[in-house]
Amino acid sequence: MSRVLVTGSADGLGRAAADALLSTGHEVVVHARDERRAAALDELLGRGADLVVGDFTDRAAVRRIAAELNAAQPLDAVIHNAGVWSGPAVMPVNIVVPYLLTALLRAPRRLVYLSSSSHFGGRPSLTGVDWRGRSAGSYSDSKLFVTTLAAAVARLRPDVLSNAVDPGWVPTRMGGPNAPDDLELGHRTQVWLATADDPEALTTGGYWYHRNRRRPHRAVHDEAFQDLLLRTLAEETDTAL
Ligand SMILES: NC(=O)c1ccc[n+]([C@@H]2O[C@H](COP(=O)([O-])OP(=O)(O)OC[C@H]3O[C@@H](n4cnc5c(N)ncnc54)[C@H](OP(=O)(O)O)[C@@H]3O)[C@@H](O)[C@H]2O)c1
Repeated sequence: MSRVLVTGSADGLGRAAADALLSTGHEVVVHARDERRAAALDELLGRGADLVVGDFTDRAAVRRIAAELNAAQPLDAVIHNAGVWSGPAVMPVNIVVPYLLTALLRAPRRLVYLSSSSHFGGRPSLTGVDWRGRSAGSYSDSKLFVTTLAAAVARLRPDVLSNAVDPGWVPTRMGGPNAPDDLELGHRTQVWLATADDPEALTTGGYWYHRNRRRPHRAVHDEAFQDLLLRTLAEETDTAL
């Protein structure tokens, strides 16, 4: 049995992952942006999930959540799932928070980051990126960065299993009703990487789609780009990995 934090679990793939984890006997910490959205988690809380609340565009709230989690029972895994498709929250939510939680949270041995096939369209450049979300951010760029973060963590923390997952284009609120991929498969790889003990799930540094390891954008394994990303995020957040 593992204890797993799933960020952004009030809806979509995060909710499905949390539901599946609870159904298979794991302990789950669910997350909602505020108390109103936490109401959507009543059913999961009734099944024993713990809850953290905080808006991921608010770095102070993210630090508070990390402190709460570090003071509680240690996490075995984190599924960095919360994400937005467009608007000023793209960089804060899709990359700054996964970085900050990775730096702040004590001890999780498995880290799963939600990537996207859109990351192939991202630009491996940090010039002019608005990390604070004063203006709209590029989704593709944010997913390239978070996929690179997953690979960098795998390289720098050999005691941790760190992987990125493309869940497919699935019909959640973000994916839209006409998304062609299988919703049921959308959360399974994340849950498997967070908890399973078969040898494939115990590997690190992968970019996965439906439990198959794929080759990501070539910048993802470029160590100079990884180091630049980590240095930039460390300066931006005043928090080293
Ligand atoms: N669906 C797809 O086709 C697809 C494809 C590739 C990758 N992905 C990735 O998969 C992940 C989950 O996507 P999804 O399709 O499940 O999207 P979704 O249905 O829109 O759910 C996104 C989740 O993130 C939370 N979130 C967004 N902004 C937040 C903030 N500022 N503070 C706290 N929580 C916040 C949302 O909370 P609220 O409900 O309160 O807004 C929601 O729980 C994302 O990282 C996404 O980029 C999805």
